[in-house]
Amino acid sequence: MINMKLILLGAPGAGKGTLAKKLIEKYNIPQLSTGDMLRAAVRKGTELGKKAKSFMDSGALVTDELVIGIIAERLREADCSNGFILDGFPRTIPQADALSGITKIDKALSLNVDDETVVSRLSGRRTCKNCGAIYHIENLKPINAGKCDKCSGELFQRDDDKEDTIRNRLKTFNAQTKPLIEYYSKKGLIVNLDAKQNPDKILEDAVEKLK
Ligand code: AP5
Repeated sequence: MINMKLILLGAPGAGKGTLAKKLIEKYNIPQLSTGDMLRAAVRKGTELGKKAKSFMDSGALVTDELVIGIIAERLREADCSNGFILDGFPRTIPQADALSGITKIDKALSLNVDDETVVSRLSGRRTCKNCGAIYHIENLKPINAGKCDKCSGELFQRDDDKEDTIRNRLKTFNAQTKPLIEYYSKKGLIVNLDAKQNPDKILEDAVEKLK
């Protein structure tokens, strides 16, 4: 176990979740995905989920206030004391400012990929309902169609993985999240990764650059 506080920055479909799962195995630190937390709240029908759903369905961002609140609470939990991987947070300058008031980040990994790759990756993504493992109908097929290799859970397609919504999510990323690359570059924390490579090579590059 190492003590490392990491941010994963990148467009929708850049492979943040895929890399996060490999980094968990490597470093034994938890993944904090605001997208997963919000989807769980939507599924349970909580107040947070009701507020978040329409933003998520349209490809827009949920308000800063809501996500800063859930991350601040999550970071206080014991398993974050030896480091963590933030996946999908921060996504705006106010979120990044709020985060720097809570804790000091070691590195921000920036996954770089083009728009057409994103559309093809997200249109074919399937996720396990049970354990969250991520597949792709062409690039990373499960052994049995529709079933997770790890836990046999049912695979599903996310509501926001439709082409129109994917394109809106990309616009949102370019307008609101891309400026964070410069924000963390100025702090000397950016680590650039070529996210078009295969997932194992991306992990290898990340580990090498984090040494
Ligand atoms: P969120 O869940 O964070 O979605 P996202 O950022 O759009 O990212 P994705 O999960 O779609 O993609 P990813 O980069 O993790 O790619 P993955 O590894 O799965 O957010 C959803 C929504 O929640 C937002 O739109 C917003 O409304 C709200 N939200 C969340 N956080 C928020 C915040 N902080 N503030 C405000 N609102 C917030 O891979 C994708 C596919 O590609 C998979 O099929 C995978 O198998 C494949 N793949 C991955 N890597 C590779 C590779 N190297 N080569 C080939 N295929 C690959």
